[in-house]
Amino acid sequence: IFLGIDLGTSSVKVIAVNENGHLLGEGAAEYPIAYPKPGWAEQNPADWWQGTLEAVRKLLQNPSIQSDDIASIGFSGQMHGLVALNEANEVLTPALLWCDQRTQAECDEITAHFGLSGLAETVSNQALTGFTAPKLLWLKKHQPEVFSQIKHILLPKDYIRFKLTGTYATDYSDASGMLLLDVQNKTWSKPLCDFIGITSDMLPELYESYEVTGLVTDEALELLGLSGISHEIRVVGGAGDQAAGAVGTGTVKEGIVSVTLGTSGVVFAAHNQFAMDDQLRLHAFCHANGHYHSMGVMLSAANCLKWWTDTVHADIPFETLLAEAEAVPTTDQHVLFLPYLTGERTPYANPDARGTFIGMTPTTTRGHFTRAILEGVAFGLKDSLEILREIQVPMDEIRVIGGGSKSDFWLKIIATIFNLSVRRINTDQGGALGAAILAAVGVGSFESVEDACEKIVKPLDAITPEQTEVAFYSDLYKRYQGLYKALEPWF
Ligand code: XUL
Repeated sequence: IFLGIDLGTSSVKVIAVNENGHLLGEGAAEYPIAYPKPGWAEQNPADWWQGTLEAVRKLLQNPSIQSDDIASIGFSGQMHGLVALNEANEVLTPALLWCDQRTQAECDEITAHFGLSGLAETVSNQALTGFTAPKLLWLKKHQPEVFSQIKHILLPKDYIRFKLTGTYATDYSDASGMLLLDVQNKTWSKPLCDFIGITSDMLPELYESYEVTGLVTDEALELLGLSGISHEIRVVGGAGDQAAGAVGTGTVKEGIVSVTLGTSGVVFAAHNQFAMDDQLRLHAFCHANGHYHSMGVMLSAANCLKWWTDTVHADIPFETLLAEAEAVPTTDQHVLFLPYLTGERTPYANPDARGTFIGMTPTTTRGHFTRAILEGVAFGLKDSLEILREIQVPMDEIRVIGGGSKSDFWLKIIATIFNLSVRRINTDQGGALGAAILAAVGVGSFESVEDACEKIVKPLDAITPEQTEVAFYSDLYKRYQGLYKALEPWF
């Protein structure tokens, strides 16, 4: 049995799978998120640990899970968050999360010092507010007494690893999102560490996602309710949630691109060799299979539809709204929607961008607006896909996952706007499954991550583009792109 711990932003989910990747059981626990000031987002690492213990204990209540069969544990973790420990391994300050936006000044400072080309050379990524290095710089400036006590810097899931095994370790995929890793050469970047004012001995040891990083300690076994177990449990590197999610969807081979229609939207491509967009619009990160990946992140994807159905039209059934949108003939559409409700990352790193409707006439109906939202999100995803195309990433198969992928209608729009077929897959366990697969590979149950994915994850039937509408959408896409540029000064 392999456990996958998926440490998310609102909850932690732990699943157990067998050697065939079949789900045996799961446990989950929620924890709060604090927004002490506008744009700030924090959590207590102690809540993650308590949540993990609770989730594992719930999982173990499942009669089909024999504790003695548990061989290893893997992780999928919310990325970029800063956990700072002092000499006594105490947490110095609440964790600053990936969605915390307080560090624009620090990002500007880093970019002014290195320039975009300097960042490309050293860490392969631009300085974004969510990333870890700007958070450290912020602490240094605003809480110097905290900064000066830092002895260990960890990412969220690596704090759980520390509590389980007593080791300070991370994996290359999650480390890539710190803006402290020389991604191409897989080592900590001295120029970035020097600029921030930290030394590499404060950073965790680097491992591949499927490598064993340590053993669960007796103390942790006891807390997990596993003290009677007759053998040691190994803990592998695990991965950031996007790379782990890509393992869970089988996006581990060049030619496969996954598109996540979750709260946020992600376009993720696996590469055999390091690849980078020289304008740094995409994230260029290490992948959990030992290679590399690129990804574009859209901050509000299915979240736009949720806003429309839950906040604006809370009194109207979701199905009614979608049926109205479907009843609008494609070529009758004249409303455009920009999906930047919470700012944007790819392709425009602009936290101040906002949602927009444009083009209404006296014949515009609610259906036109709903349809514009579905299309606007698809155009936003296409923005990332087009950058992948520019850097010549092969796209033999597009896999669509996440809550939004349940809608056939939305998938048809996406396939037509991309002018590519898209497929769902046979599992929706995402990052947790990826984490469990990494745990299984780490103890030799599969030859490689690719081998495991091939055996466990299967694509389903293709949804093909509506050929008669491709030209219409291609024209609308040009107008969509022009609209952000026209409105940028206003944002
Ligand atoms: C990836 C990213 C999110 C967070 C939260 O760059 O910011 O996936 O890890 O889930």
